[in-house]
Amino acid sequence: MTIRKVLRAGWPLLRQKARGISQSEIGSGSLESLINDMIETMHEENGVGLAAPQVQSGLRLLVYQLYPNPRYPELDEEEEPRILINPEITKKSAELITDQEGCLSYPDLRAEIPRHQWIRVTARDRSGQEISFKAEGFEARVIQHEIDHLNGHLLVDRVSDLETLVFDDVSRRFRNDEESEDS
Ligand code: NI
Repeated sequence: MTIRKVLRAGWPLLRQKARGISQSEIGSGSLESLINDMIETMHEENGVGLAAPQVQSGLRLLVYQLYPNPRYPELDEEEEPRILINPEITKKSAELITDQEGCLSYPDLRAEIPRHQWIRVTARDRSGQEISFKAEGFEARVIQHEIDHLNGHLLVDRVSDLETLVFDDVSRRFRNDEESEDS
C-alpha cells in the first residue's frame, strides 16, 4: 500500500466530473490498489472520507470511515472503512442540517455547510455487489461531501455564509471556550 498525495484546491482535476467504473474493472489489480491506497491515505491524513479525484484518479469511487482521530476527536465510535463505487443519492430528506465541515483539499479550513439530514444511497461495493442503504447525520454529511468531489464540486461551493470559513485550530479554541462556559 502507498500513501498518495492529496490534491489541494486549484488542481483542475478536482473540478472535473469523475467517470463511472465498469463492472469489469471492479476487482482488477489497479482498482484494488487504488482502494487500498485511498484507505491508507485517509488514515494518514486523519480524514473521514476521500474521493478518488483527490488522489489524482478520475474514477467514481469514494471511501469513508467514522473513527476518532485528531481532526475529528468528537467521533467516539470506531467503524470499518466503507467503499462506494459509482455512488448515487436516490432519495434525500427535505430537512437540511448546517454544521461545520472540513476537506483534505482545503487543509486546516472549516466552514458551516448545509446538508440533507438523511440520504438513501445506491452503489457497488468492492466486490461489485449492488448495495443500497440509508445514512443520516454525520455519515450522510460525509457521503454528500465525497459525492460532491465526484461531480467536481468543492466545499467552498456549498458555504452558505462566508463568515463561517475559518481555520480549524483557531475556531476550536473558541468553541472549547463556549463549551466550558456552558458547563
Ligand atoms: Ni473533501
